[in-house]
Amino acid sequence: MSKEYPVPPAFAAAEQIKPDTYAGLYRESIDDPEKFWAEAARRLEWIKPPTQVKDVSFDPADLHIRWYADGVLNPTVSCLDRHLETRGDKTALLFEGDDPAIARAITYRELHAQVCKFANALRQLGVGKGDRIAIYMPMIPEACVAMLACARIGAIHSVVFGGFSPDALAGRIADSKCKLVITADEGVRANRKIPLKANVDEALTRPGTESIETVVVVRRTGGAVAMLPLRDRWWDALVESQPAECEPEPMNAEDPLFILYTSGSTGKPKGVLHTIGGYMVWVSYTHEATFDLREDDVYWCTADVGWVTGHSYIVYGPLANGATSLVFEGVPNWPDASRLWQVCDKHQVTILYTAPTAIRALMREGDGPVRKTSRKSLRLLGSVGEPINPEAWEWYFNVVGEGRCPIVDTWWQTETGGTLMCPLPGSTVLKPGCAMKPFFGIRPAILDVDGQPIDGEGSGNLVITDSWPGQMRTVYGDHQRFIDTYFTMYPGVYTTGDGAGRDADGDWKITGRVDDVINVSGHRIGTAEIESAMMADVRVAEAAVVGCPHEIKGATIYAFVTPKEGVVPTDALRKELAAGIRERIGAFAAPEYLQWAPALPKTRSAKTMRRILRKIAETGSNEVDLATLGDTSTLADPSVVKRLYDERVRY
Ligand code: WTA
Repeated sequence: MSKEYPVPPAFAAAEQIKPDTYAGLYRESIDDPEKFWAEAARRLEWIKPPTQVKDVSFDPADLHIRWYADGVLNPTVSCLDRHLETRGDKTALLFEGDDPAIARAITYRELHAQVCKFANALRQLGVGKGDRIAIYMPMIPEACVAMLACARIGAIHSVVFGGFSPDALAGRIADSKCKLVITADEGVRANRKIPLKANVDEALTRPGTESIETVVVVRRTGGAVAMLPLRDRWWDALVESQPAECEPEPMNAEDPLFILYTSGSTGKPKGVLHTIGGYMVWVSYTHEATFDLREDDVYWCTADVGWVTGHSYIVYGPLANGATSLVFEGVPNWPDASRLWQVCDKHQVTILYTAPTAIRALMREGDGPVRKTSRKSLRLLGSVGEPINPEAWEWYFNVVGEGRCPIVDTWWQTETGGTLMCPLPGSTVLKPGCAMKPFFGIRPAILDVDGQPIDGEGSGNLVITDSWPGQMRTVYGDHQRFIDTYFTMYPGVYTTGDGAGRDADGDWKITGRVDDVINVSGHRIGTAEIESAMMADVRVAEAAVVGCPHEIKGATIYAFVTPKEGVVPTDALRKELAAGIRERIGAFAAPEYLQWAPALPKTRSAKTMRRILRKIAETGSNEVDLATLGDTSTLADPSVVKRLYDERVRY
């Protein structure tokens, strides 16, 4: 049982939030979801308010998920236009550059104008409702402007994280046949340049990317880039003469808002599709409630817009709520390990939302870099992306927040659109490492391997038994894959791929992925993807990739590789294979450890026993009894296991 912290006495939650607020609202949301979500929809600005609320079936034979299906709206009206009267001069986006000397505030009025201008430019380039647009950008305000401009005219954006390689970008462009890419000349992180435009040029030489007609380039560094006549256009020149008003495209609530590719346990990345109405209700509601949002908050989510956290909690949620959202171009440890806290002081940040991997990395630097800053402005802390270990939680709570700020540990996924579990600040007690409570309307359950529900205290596979407005609607272009991935293992419920436990108080703790997905520094990657990238090298006969624990990154990648007959396994080859992964996927997916495997442990039906490989990889410098690696009696050749164990990487 975890230690328990009451709501910190110094934390004054909103007047209406009391210890029983959570339980009351949760009950209402479960007792009468139609009423609850009809009311919640009013938080958006609709052209035609919905009369229908929920239309869902989780039955694999008739799977459909629709919310607010007859509503008509444009999401940017909720994020921008409606704030002009009351919040026109309020800062919408606060930009903090990689270089600490660069900072810029953009008001709601200015952001509205920028979005309108760029939306007009996109229309002029022939982009319209339903077109797919790739966004491959650094963390600069233009990335948010680009997303919102797409939404303004009904185009579907597909943001690709700037750390992905040209190959990975090309694959995503090809899968959804994007018409246009928006990028920058270069990105800057920790004073190092990232050649984004050059990466785009390379990606567009790959087969399957012929759908791209135009590349729009933001000038960020002024570095020299090649501009292909007719295809490549400068952002500045495009928006210069555009009017600052742009008629928002009326959209159905169930029209797509964006595609975001994410890794699963099999095959290539999936294009997770979110639609407008339900997603916007979900992110705006969860953002307000989870962070106890106030009008004068300065809210900072350190994620990148290339991941779902950036979509929901830098752009759409905060802007729908009229908040001030900080956009940070840099990294937490540059110029030094004090950077996050210095930024908090400089901009008087009140809410900080970051990832356990950053917390652990900074914790290792000791308390000094934290203590030399004030942090008095902070009143709430958040965590997302991976399980937070209790030690990191305690440090975040006691050292960073000085015991004054509740921590909201928010559990969710790209697929869920926004937070599904977290404490409600001011109402829920806190336990280090626990996501505590399902958000309103969320019905979680724990199933054992046979699909039997585990009631009360226990742990197992986490499923959600009913829909919520922010749920993904399909895998772009492959609805069957959506059904197969999430609704067939346990028919009738949404399978999350995570494991969870519930304690005697009924509080939840997420234990991490139970499938072949690894969260490396909170970056989600499928082992199958890395394996197939490995096997693309002609010298590799076979590869199996598993996750193993890592002090800072949470998990890291451990690869077992069998070279082809006649190939000599050398250190040089090891480096080349890692470089190959960087090239095919991105640096964050390169294996930390690579072990040569004369053979992989196989069952008699030639299936790789990943469970055993995982155990070997987890062992590191420890010694374990071989018998604890699991039942090897079904293996074709049990001696393989002993050899792999003996030769394991002792990290
Ligand atoms: C993990 C990121 C424990 C989890 C929002 C999930 C977490 C995966 C938490 C989704 C948390 C995210 N506690 N685990 N608070 N938040 N995860 O799609 O394994 O990039 O399935 O979405 O991150 O990663 P994704």
